[in-house]
Amino acid sequence: MSHSWKDPFYLWSRFLLAPQAVGSVWPSSQYLARAMIDAICLKPGDVIVEYGPGTGPFTKLLEKYLADGVEYIGIEYDQKLYKNLTTRFSGMRFHHGSAEDAPEILKSYKLQGASLIVSGLPFANMSAALQERILNATQEALLDHGMFRTFSYLFSSMSPRITHFQKMLSSKFHEQHPSSTVMRNFPPARVYSFSHPVKV
Ligand SMILES: C[S@@+](CC[C@H](N)C(=O)[O-])C[C@H]1O[C@@H](n2cnc3c(N)ncnc32)[C@H](O)[C@@H]1O
Repeated sequence: MSHSWKDPFYLWSRFLLAPQAVGSVWPSSQYLARAMIDAICLKPGDVIVEYGPGTGPFTKLLEKYLADGVEYIGIEYDQKLYKNLTTRFSGMRFHHGSAEDAPEILKSYKLQGASLIVSGLPFANMSAALQERILNATQEALLDHGMFRTFSYLFSSMSPRITHFQKMLSSKFHEQHPSSTVMRNFPPARVYSFSHPVKV
């Protein structure tokens, strides 16, 4: 279940070309991937959206829900990573584009609102304006009871961008669930879960 030996090299090469957008030189560990889907309950017909699957450490675990009739769509901004995902996870659906457009992307695939959005996005590298556009899209794309799961690296948790992002997150959801820390990741990370988006 750990990533392929090629994945770190692959992500590294994409990072060198677009450090801000790719945001990490190492794929998430299987421990972080497990924490990202911990205690997720889905039923047939539910929709999972994954933002920024990258080389697919979370995708690999999300794949098992397809057998239960759950729909999946991964939205990846980097074209090479997107192409690689379509080859590697040939039974799964991917869209080359930005998480900012999640509601329109769901509609274009005739998918109903999402029950779960799992994010691998590097929010710490994003401007406040982009963070807000993605959170607005997330609120709109999620069903009323839907859940948003994201992580941030511990070293960046006190950065102004992440503190501002956390405040925005709390204002956009009715419920915040207990977070968990994953030390067995490079770098160590904290997983956040929010549900019941405020509908505007
Ligand atoms: C830090 S990497 C994480 C990759 C993977 N989820 C993991 O945990 O190893 C961030 C990923 O988000 C993608 N990304 C960045 N901005 C994006 C956006 N606006 N919409 C969709 N994907 C984006 C990058 O191309 C990259 O694949």
